[in-house]
Amino acid sequence: MRLGTPLSDTAIRVMLLGSGELGKEVAIELQRLGAEVIAVDRYPNAPAMQVAHRSHVIPMTDPQVLNGVIMAEAPHIIVPEIEAIATDVLAHIEAAGMATVVPTARAVQLTMNREGIRRLAAEELGLPTSPFAFAGSAEELGAGAATVGYPCFVKPVMSSSGKGQSFVENPDEIADAWAYAQSAGRVDTARVIVEGRIDFDFEITLLTVRSLGADGQVRTDFCAPIGHRQVKGDYVESWQPQAMSEAALAASQDIAAKVTGALGGLGVFGVELFVKGDQVWFSEVSPRPHDTGLVTLATQTQSEFALHARAILGLPVDVSQREIGASAVIYGGMEAVGIAFEGVADALSMPTADLRLFGKPEAFERRRMGVATARGATTDEARERAREAAGKVRPVRG
Ligand SMILES: Nc1ncnc2c1ncn2[C@@H]1O[C@H](COP(=O)(O)OP(=O)(O)O)[C@@H](O)[C@H]1O
Ligand SMILES: [Mg+2]
Repeated sequence: MRLGTPLSDTAIRVMLLGSGELGKEVAIELQRLGAEVIAVDRYPNAPAMQVAHRSHVIPMTDPQVLNGVIMAEAPHIIVPEIEAIATDVLAHIEAAGMATVVPTARAVQLTMNREGIRRLAAEELGLPTSPFAFAGSAEELGAGAATVGYPCFVKPVMSSSGKGQSFVENPDEIADAWAYAQSAGRVDTARVIVEGRIDFDFEITLLTVRSLGADGQVRTDFCAPIGHRQVKGDYVESWQPQAMSEAALAASQDIAAKVTGALGGLGVFGVELFVKGDQVWFSEVSPRPHDTGLVTLATQTQSEFALHARAILGLPVDVSQREIGASAVIYGGMEAVGIAFEGVADALSMPTADLRLFGKPEAFERRRMGVATARGATTDEARERAREAAGKVRPVRG
């Protein structure tokens, strides 16, 4: 692909569907390469909108409205950043050859629904996963839990970031888990997946990049594994590299190559895996940069956002890790509009510490408002520094 000049006839126009903190970093990387960036989300002043050439506030689940914006902007590349999108529109746009959907419309459709990606991974590709069942009622959920065994996880098939998820230890908790999934799931599907618990030693994100090689063929590269800690299905800290056996790393890369190969297209994928000794299970995959990969801002020659921008533009990538590092999340801790941050200078006085404050217009108690990163001689040292830096940043009312 030939790159051009933004806001001119030669511009490469890239439309982000979803304009959160991950999209903001992708937008910045695209801007650096002179792409014209159009940010779309359902609320005004979303993080990526603040660094884009233009933005649109629309309900992205409304096919007509979404199609209208795409027609009006005529992007060359469409980059979905979230899952709540009218994906049929993307399939149509791709089939008509009107734009490239990253990585592919089918990948976006399969991964927006836990059932689609789980069936692909477990049934078509034969990858190891937790035992699972799907359910459309509390009764079916009870039966599914009995087959996968207790304890288990119940998740709405259309949900992310731990929303609507329950950890269920016995049959008495099934009714509550069903009700909770209904209240917090996305869109109007009542379906849930129930998964047997994998008793892993640790979990990783294996950032996997599909890019065009010098020979014009798609190649697959793997970043160093990222370890992370989740609380209620939401990431609170991550580090790179996660130490693991050679056999487990090889199995992880094999799983990641298979699942990203099946999804196709170009770009970064966040392949989530559970690891116990040399054994590895596939959990899920994002067809885009991953929140736990924010650590790569501090550790890699090219962050996951730079890798994504390059890969989707058909440019070569370098996945090498330069430093050991960690990231720690900064939460809103309150419900307020236009919050301020105190303690930033203090946080940044920590050796190697860096910050991203996302600029989200509204804070919630558990909304991710920023992230601290740090490096270290070991991941333990980096984690301690990142946590301490994050802890020094205090959101306050304006
Ligand atoms: N089957 C399972 N066994 C063990 N832990 C699990 C299982 N499913 C989910 N978890 C835990 O919950 C977290 C969130 O689950 P995940 O399926 O990744 O949901 P989300 O799409 O919200 O990220 C995982 O990162 C892991 O820590
Ligand atoms: Mg996950």
